[in-house]
Amino acid sequence: MNNSINYNWYPGHMTKARRMMEENVKLVDLVIEIVDARCIQSSENPDIDKLAKNKARLLLLNKADLADPNKTNAWVAEFKKRGIEAIPLTAKNKVKKKDIDAAVECACAEIIARNKARGISGKKIRAMIAGIPNVGKSTFINSYVRRTATKTGNKPGVTKGKQWITFGDKIELLDTPGILWPRFDNQITGQHLAFIGSMNDQVINIEELAFDLIGFLMKFYPGTFEKRYEVKESYTEEELTDDYGQEIKPALAVMQAIAKKRGCMRRGGDYDYDKVSKLILEDFRSGRLGRISLEIPKAAIDRFEIEEK
Ligand code: G4P
Repeated sequence: MNNSINYNWYPGHMTKARRMMEENVKLVDLVIEIVDARCIQSSENPDIDKLAKNKARLLLLNKADLADPNKTNAWVAEFKKRGIEAIPLTAKNKVKKKDIDAAVECACAEIIARNKARGISGKKIRAMIAGIPNVGKSTFINSYVRRTATKTGNKPGVTKGKQWITFGDKIELLDTPGILWPRFDNQITGQHLAFIGSMNDQVINIEELAFDLIGFLMKFYPGTFEKRYEVKESYTEEELTDDYGQEIKPALAVMQAIAKKRGCMRRGGDYDYDKVSKLILEDFRSGRLGRISLEIPKAAIDRFEIEEK
């Protein structure tokens, strides 16, 4: 795979986000982190263990409608092993309140038991939503919480100006989600976030990105392009030689075949690489290429017979 794009960037306003997060986390019992089910490791916040130290944790694996269900299940099992409650979620659709409530109860079992032992009953769990940009924090709050919620502001003992949403009789949620920063410790993480559209496409080379995505899918989800665009995915040596006798990579041959098939051509017969790249990325991001996950837990690698990248 070609890793020539430098994904190592991040806007400076994350310092402010960090301060806000540190301030808000003090007010809650439970941190609900939302990640993208298609690339859980890359969309997790790298510092969440430290940030949410001594807090109950719940992980929502959102956009499960776009992810490979077997791999999402492997992640759920992996988090269970690590003692973290995790559930798949499609925040865009109607979210089942009872599923979230049950997960919250599981994640907060210790707190609930402690309260019970002290004779405290009916105390609501204070929670906050957190996650890197674009994972679906607002969608979750809007589609699920707001429906039944009532807002309460300026609670005694709580920092002035904070808004809390009460829903059901168990949870009180901080109105503003915590915006977290993503990992940027390696190129693969950056690449995966770029694939799913969580990085500004303006700052990356879209053609190289699409080329890398084609390479990934040919390797891990063979048949994707044949199914969607009716193009070949394997080529003879002769077919992988251009008019000038230069060797071309199979991923480029696939890209060119898609360009031809979908009319992404310039006048004069040149390929419109920009147009075809956008088409492929958009089809992937919207799920039109199928339910695809970019990452699996290390422990499940054998099961999926995928070599470690
Ligand atoms: P954020 O607050 O964490 O930054 O994320 P936000 O809710 O704004 O969601 C980011 C994008 O992800 C939105 O798409 C939203 O519709 C989409 N999204 C959220 N949850 C899901 C889900 O479960 N499945 C799928 N497929 N998509 C989801 P957008 O294109 O930016 O906006 P819109 O045109 O959909 O409104």
